[in-house]
Amino acid sequence: MDCVLAVQSKMNIFLDDNDRHTNLVGLDSLMKENDINYVRQIPTIDINQIGQLINQGVHHRVYEYGRDEVLKVPRRRFNFLYSNRSHLEADLKLINSYFPELAVSTVVHSSKSHQHHCMIQEKVKVYTLIDPVSFREVGDDFTNLLQKNKQLEINHCCSLDLLGGQGLLSCIRYFLGHKELPYFSNTVLVKKNGRFKLRVIDTELLRLSLTSLTFTGILSYVSSHCSLVATNICLNSFYLRARH
Ligand SMILES: Nc1ncnc2c1ncn2[C@@H]1O[C@H](COP(=O)(O)OP(=O)(O)O)[C@@H](O)[C@H]1O
Ligand SMILES: [Mg+2]
Repeated sequence: MDCVLAVQSKMNIFLDDNDRHTNLVGLDSLMKENDINYVRQIPTIDINQIGQLINQGVHHRVYEYGRDEVLKVPRRRFNFLYSNRSHLEADLKLINSYFPELAVSTVVHSSKSHQHHCMIQEKVKVYTLIDPVSFREVGDDFTNLLQKNKQLEINHCCSLDLLGGQGLLSCIRYFLGHKELPYFSNTVLVKKNGRFKLRVIDTELLRLSLTSLTFTGILSYVSSHCSLVATNICLNSFYLRARH
């Protein structure tokens, strides 16, 4: 449990059984003006339900939404990487069919012009990130996840982005000699009835086939393969070692 708390405090985020949380230190917890203007384009988002910033990944800023949900607003800097609605929904469908027990309920909302997309997702409470120490809590579940992910790769040329952008940075920092353990940032552990359970919070899949020769298509293909290679290095270096 010590390691769990250590990882949580490393992220400066801690959601406990009483639904208490603290936000990332150094991040302004109020909604950014850009984000307000963005979500105003989407009629099905109720601005009054939007709370504080919980965290941000490479692609999204994540805000509280009502009591039990989060709102994921794309970060404008990565405009060129936005998936369109049909991509996001196709990914969700695959995740729900391959990982029904791990998927977190998620709905894509769009503007009338379909230019703007946000996601509303069930808020995941009491979780920690997966690092070489916390791996031990879910060894078999993680092995099952890897097996199903392999099937997903074979059948659909897609893969869960297990490591994620923050996870990739944590690996680089670790290899550069930082003490902080590397972790997977897109799949987390939730504590339910005293037992740790895996949940997939990042619902965008890596695209491993080159579907279009556009700038975005090529970039998405190259970055997906780079993420997959980094994930495999991380798995072989830390996960498999941690299991023996
Ligand atoms: N459903 C959720 N409940 C609580 N916190 C979440 C949830 N989804 C994401 N977060 C927080 O926001 C961070 C970034 O989310 P993520 O979906 O990985 O964004 P990105 O698409 O930018 O990678 C996560 O590391 C986590 O701290
Ligand atoms: Mg992510």
